[in-house]
Amino acid sequence: MPNAVLQTNSLLLGDNLELLRGLPDACVDLIYLDPPFFSNRHYSVVWGDAGEVRSFSDKWAGGIEEYISWLKLRVQEMYRVLKPTGSLFLHCDHHANAYIRVQILDPIFGIQNFRNEIIWCYKSPSNTKKYFPSKHDTIFRYSKTALFTFNKAAVLIDYDALTLERRRYAETRSKGIPFKGKAFEVYLKGHLPNDWWDDIPAGGQMSKYERMGYPTQKPEKLLARIIAVASNAGELVLDPFVGGGTTVVVAQRLERQWIGIDSSPKALQVTAQRLQALENVELGLGLELKPPTL
Ligand SMILES: C[S@@+](CC[C@H](N)C(=O)[O-])C[C@H]1O[C@@H](n2cnc3c(N)ncnc32)[C@H](O)[C@@H]1O
Repeated sequence: MPNAVLQTNSLLLGDNLELLRGLPDACVDLIYLDPPFFSNRHYSVVWGDAGEVRSFSDKWAGGIEEYISWLKLRVQEMYRVLKPTGSLFLHCDHHANAYIRVQILDPIFGIQNFRNEIIWCYKSPSNTKKYFPSKHDTIFRYSKTALFTFNKAAVLIDYDALTLERRRYAETRSKGIPFKGKAFEVYLKGHLPNDWWDDIPAGGQMSKYERMGYPTQKPEKLLARIIAVASNAGELVLDPFVGGGTTVVVAQRLERQWIGIDSSPKALQVTAQRLQALENVELGLGLELKPPTL
């Protein structure tokens, strides 16, 4: 893209299709997107004492075809701006995940560059009578080529207590006889999470310091895992549907550069407030939230 300008650590207001077209080719290391899910709902939350409305619409008169063509145009631009070593994580759910994988991601990235279908499980109240409550989202992970960042050591999680207990027992039992298998200390380093994540609470279970009253806001811990595994310090993370700003706030905490795009002025206002609050807390690799001093 000739004459394209790259200004990092910036929030861009407008339709992401136009704004993505203004970015140079192959400049981004990691893209996370959490677009409208084809839920055919309008999301709005009345926030604070002043009754401010934070909202966006996910209604599609032209049905799934309209939604898929709308999203596909945008993912094509995301593919263009991604570096050859870059990765994309697309967050969706049962409303359109099958269509998105088969009609958008496989054709654009190539089936060979599909890396994971991550299932994020969460808990929240439900009163469904004729369905099992739907309590998971899908996050598709694709790389642009076979050469991509995957920082295993940055995302290890602890083994559960029972596994550790069993390993310790197995090792101590083998008194005198050389112990075969991994040493207990190796287990203490932890393991990679599976491709289903049930250790990251959503919604009302997120920390009160991170809840911004932005509809469908995602937890910082979820973005921390994605950004830590698929990018390195100093690299550029892009969220073209930034909403309440989770991705850019976590990118800033993890010392990445970032660009956030949203068509809603309210979304960018919430994001800017969040980034400003962050200036008042200690930056660094600690993923635990500290209260922002607003
Ligand atoms: C599901 S929300 C993102 C929530 C975000 N991940 C968070 O943690 O707060 C989707 C966002 O996409 C924005 N959006 C929808 N269509 C857009 C478009 N064409 N260009 C830019 N932003 C768009 C909406 O305004 C909304 O803020």
